Amino acid sequence: MEPVSSAASKKEILDKKNAEAALGGGEKRIAAQHAKGKLTARERIEVLVDKGSFEEIGKFVMHRSRDFGLDKEHYLGDGVVTGYGQINGRLTYIYAQDFTVFGGSLSETHAEKIIRIMDLAMKNGAPVVGLNDSGGARIQEGVLSLAGYADIFYKNTLASGVVPQISAVMGPCAGGAVYSPAITDFILMVENTSYMFVTGPNVVKTVTHEDVTSEELGGAMTHATKSGVTHFVSPNEVECLLVIKKLLSYIPQNCEDDAPRLSYQETNETRPVLSNIIPESPNQPYDIREVISEIADSDSFFEVHTHFAENIVVGFARLAGRSIGIVANQPAVLAGVLDINASQKAARFVRFCDCFNIPLLVLEDVPGFLPGTDQEWNGIITNGAKLLYAFCEATVPRITVITRKAYGGAYDVMNSKHIGADMNFAWPTAEIAVMGASGAAEIIFKKEIAEAEDPAAKLQEKVEEYTRKFANPFRAAHRGYVDEVIYPEQTREKLIRAFAMLENKVATLPKKKHGNIPL
Ligand code: HXC
Repeated sequence: MEPVSSAASKKEILDKKNAEAALGGGEKRIAAQHAKGKLTARERIEVLVDKGSFEEIGKFVMHRSRDFGLDKEHYLGDGVVTGYGQINGRLTYIYAQDFTVFGGSLSETHAEKIIRIMDLAMKNGAPVVGLNDSGGARIQEGVLSLAGYADIFYKNTLASGVVPQISAVMGPCAGGAVYSPAITDFILMVENTSYMFVTGPNVVKTVTHEDVTSEELGGAMTHATKSGVTHFVSPNEVECLLVIKKLLSYIPQNCEDDAPRLSYQETNETRPVLSNIIPESPNQPYDIREVISEIADSDSFFEVHTHFAENIVVGFARLAGRSIGIVANQPAVLAGVLDINASQKAARFVRFCDCFNIPLLVLEDVPGFLPGTDQEWNGIITNGAKLLYAFCEATVPRITVITRKAYGGAYDVMNSKHIGADMNFAWPTAEIAVMGASGAAEIIFKKEIAEAEDPAAKLQEKVEEYTRKFANPFRAAHRGYVDEVIYPEQTREKLIRAFAMLENKVATLPKKKHGNIPL
């Protein structure tokens, strides 16, 4: 027992405990962490929060285990630093797993600490940022640790759509532990030091006989490009933490809040460059990011999921200082076609924006859904329906600009007015039809073309006829499906005004328990 005789010695005990907690698993393990190019949990928090704003909760919590020598091994904090601080001047709850303590593994008490800050976040309406770096379930604790994970998954699910949840994976994240990040809104990974998988390379080798490294199986670029599990990849930890700060700057604190609005000086909104982006030939690609950067406030576009399903571009931007979410077909990749991955990527982004009151802008240039057995057998029907469903149920202000092709089912899906968009604009280059003119002519005039003296000339004549009738925005505008055909250089101005007009939009869905999005 330590003698407690005076106020001075009591203070000394506190000093000692504070110093002990700050060291986590000790200097040797901190050095090992640094040697791997990784920061400690506390160092990460320091980079993330506004200087000096972090307040720790549960610093002296210890595990209650007795088995496998744990009765003799205790560390203050039990492998996770939890608390709250300010990020960009706004309250944020944070947990950071400390790999220097039992490899950041999750015990019963470690889980309780995470749940405590999630509860506070939900009651007080502020985001939760989790910095994950963990060997998974604390093996010595058995089912207590599994129960802790399940409690976190449950809480993640309850918090979903209430407060934004962001997970950075900054080390190992294996087994069922991956499912907490997976339930949250955004995942970030660091190249070469973080990995996520349900079963690691050894189990893979045993079961499927595949030889694969951790990096190949579940490294940052694997999840950024192949699985789409991670939304952001950074070359190092500091960059990753800065991405979190940037992401938070675009989104509100909770589902009843609005995103922060930056002050904005009205200037001349005409953007002549926009009139020169669409190529002469309808089959020639262009980069939709050029259109986005001309429409959005300068340097405000912040792309999400950059490396996955590049045939669709999603991300946040500001328009006259206000946050918007952008979903844009990318003609530069696969002609901007909608496929399974693109539909999933966009649907998830649309749902995030809708959860958190972020208006949606859709830029449409889509030749349709991708045909083929691969797509059909892997469920383009169900997956395409996800995007359709996500737009249909979104109640935030929604505007579409059709820059070029709006063909077939994709016309309906990409935020058409028929499924609840508030405004649809089209550029004069828009082509709104069931399909491209040559395909259409070949089908509907098949007999006439076959019987013609010169079938090629007949086909050309019919293609031109179809083009004249449908490869333009005016038929849709005559019906009111397009609200206005605009000059491209006016787009920014029109959007600023239209989003301002929709600012107080109120829309409600029919009363239900919850919908049944095709998963
Ligand atoms: C307890 C653990 C631990 C764990 C690591 N440690 N993982 N302690 N439970 N799960 C301890 C180690 O004993 C070691 O302690 C310290 O953390 C660092 O570990 P090292 O192995 O030295 O580090 P490294 O070489 O970097 O390897 C990291 C690792 C490896 C890849 C994470 O430790 C590992 O494979 N751990 C086990 C992973 C695992 O199988 N977890 C269970 C997954 S199943 P000392 O004292 O030496 O510093 C799961 C189920 C969740 O998580 C289900 C939810 C539904």
